[in-house]
Amino acid sequence: MAAVAQSATIAVYSVKGGVGKTTIAANLAWCSAELSGHPTLLWDLDAAGGSGFLYGLEPHKGRQAGEIFSQDRSPEKLIRKTAWDTLDVLPADESIRALDAQLTAIGKRRRLAKLIESLATWYERVILDCPPVMNELSAQVIRAADLIIVPLPPSPLSARAFELVVREVTDNAKRHPPILPVLSMLDMRRTLHRQAREENPAWPVIPYASAVEQCAVQQRPVGAIAPQSLAAQRFIMLWRAIEHKLAQRG
Ligand SMILES: Nc1ncnc2c1ncn2[C@@H]1O[C@H](COP(=O)(O)OP(=O)(O)OP(=O)(O)O)[C@@H](O)[C@H]1O
Ligand SMILES: [Mg+2]
Repeated sequence: MAAVAQSATIAVYSVKGGVGKTTIAANLAWCSAELSGHPTLLWDLDAAGGSGFLYGLEPHKGRQAGEIFSQDRSPEKLIRKTAWDTLDVLPADESIRALDAQLTAIGKRRRLAKLIESLATWYERVILDCPPVMNELSAQVIRAADLIIVPLPPSPLSARAFELVVREVTDNAKRHPPILPVLSMLDMRRTLHRQAREENPAWPVIPYASAVEQCAVQQRPVGAIAPQSLAAQRFIMLWRAIEHKLAQRG
């Protein structure tokens, strides 16, 4: 059998809503599958179901996604294919709304991590699209992740959210995963945004762009709908930075 790359779990997470988590998770999953050729799973942990939507997938009828966590249903049963051979999606459904309470009741602190480990036979990269919460679900995400991407549109509230995430991550794991902040929805016409860029020159950037908005309209990633765009190039740069960080793992 051919050697497979060391598997890795990448969480796209913030306590703040509407910062671009789903957009970044969906586009990074495409980069992982298409650019790096990794068998990749995009796992939607937000009941809103945005990641599935961005790939044109309807939510499951019924309440099935939560049953994976109670081990009444195996994840493979719910995994859906996309138009790209190496990219699959595990969509959310209504049951995910109760996932935090469900995980608390189950009481296994590494249930999500174990489920992801069981998928490592098939997937070299698992990308988690997380809801904007700070609870047992996010604690499990932190324990499962090899790298945490935190999207930050330039604003004082995002900066505060970033501090909260850093504190949560460091509190939840002794050897916590690295955190990679990303300046998201960056609009260089705006003073505050230019300042944020100048203050954090090393942070990867995702520009505010109509090509990115189009992802939700066309239900395909930027790399597929506007491969020459600046946004597509920036997602590639972000993906390379992620792979570089993962390669440095001990
Ligand atoms: N770089 C960008 N340029 C333009 N629009 C963007 C960009 N990133 C995200 N958006 C748009 O902003 C909105 C919020 O993005 P997204 O759903 O990815 O955020 P989120 O953090 O996942 O939100 P939630 O916390 O509700 O899950 C969406 O309409 C999306 O299309
Ligand atoms: Mg989202």
